[in-house]
Amino acid sequence: MTAPFPTLQLDLIAEIERDRQLPLYAKRDIALVRGEGAYLFDSAGNRYLDAMSNYGVAALGHADPEYTGALLDQLQHLTTCHQSFYNDARAAALAAIGQIAPAGLNRTFFSNSGAEAIEAAIKFARVTTGRNHFVAARRGYHGRTLGALAITADPKYRGPFEPFGAEVTHVPYNDAEAIEAAITEQTAAVILEPIQGEAGVYPGEEAFLRAARTAATTYGALFIADEIQTGFRTGAPFAISASDVTPDILCSAKAIANGFPIGVTLVTDAVSEAVPAGTHGTTFGANPLACRAVVATLDAFEKRNLYANSTAIGTKLIESIEALGSPKIRAVRGRGLMIGVELKERVTPTLKAMQERGVLALPASPVVFRLLPPLIWGDEQVDEFVTALEGALA
Ligand SMILES: Cc1ncc(COP(=O)(O)O)c(C=O)c1O
Repeated sequence: MTAPFPTLQLDLIAEIERDRQLPLYAKRDIALVRGEGAYLFDSAGNRYLDAMSNYGVAALGHADPEYTGALLDQLQHLTTCHQSFYNDARAAALAAIGQIAPAGLNRTFFSNSGAEAIEAAIKFARVTTGRNHFVAARRGYHGRTLGALAITADPKYRGPFEPFGAEVTHVPYNDAEAIEAAITEQTAAVILEPIQGEAGVYPGEEAFLRAARTAATTYGALFIADEIQTGFRTGAPFAISASDVTPDILCSAKAIANGFPIGVTLVTDAVSEAVPAGTHGTTFGANPLACRAVVATLDAFEKRNLYANSTAIGTKLIESIEALGSPKIRAVRGRGLMIGVELKERVTPTLKAMQERGVLALPASPVVFRLLPPLIWGDEQVDEFVTALEGALA
């Protein structure tokens, strides 16, 4: 069966997806076909406030004119270019990343997704230390390639694909003593999200992050910060900068290119020097189109004050949700525009009710829903969200 494109018929779109895709995702019953700023539109023309930005990707919102213009310009010049040649868009992306990278993370490896950024980090940590033991957190999420999956905690994702090559110890998140005890002279790296996302939005405590950093330094292990979800939305380029911890490796993806697929692994000079030439690479990595997307995105974050906006709007969101005083809400937590709302019941009915009221949000565990909206939200979107939530919880 062939579908006319673009098609506006939900039934036809849904039928083809159901018949042709591996049934790996539970589907929500709308087809999203267009976006504009903070809003998405379905095939019937209904408008939705986007409180998820595809799991934290579309940080500038949808169809941003400046971003789109930059990509169109790049499409007309060069989209693919092997890394054995120099390239202007790649150099511009490296320079832009250099402006925001934590101190000492001078070297960049580009790939095509978050999991690939983690995969590179695992390989680099192995080759730098000559060790194969990793310490990660329970309920941590790092991706679905086999290496990234080995350090991901949830048995739902791991179980069907075990055993893994790497040896991993999972400790409770925010348990400083446990992480100190787990890191030994066998450990290649400790890998942590500065705020756990998938687990239910749990900010990492300073003492925990610092204990992990200190133990890693003591035993010659590396500290890897997984900023794939936290990056750019907590009031600063990277969430780890709220602590006094400096990682040896930092992984980014999602928002850094506003929807163009990319993975970024930042490392110190020492790690870079330990990775022998030719031992890692990818055909699509560092392609000019992805690099131009990074430049346009980082430029917009800075020029439009979107770090400060994330803090201001995030604070307003948390306060407004708390002010609802709903007996169904157990806790509201997060930083900037990465917010978790824990309910005293399962979140699926609330997410459905919000969708019916024109708002799209995400689960982050069975009882937590998550807000990862575009960073361009203003007061109007906060009011719209809170009104929909109030109705959904009623
Ligand atoms: C913290 C974290 N790490 C890694 C990943 C994997 O990224 P990707 O889905 O692009 O492979 C994700 C994706 O949700 C994530 O949130």
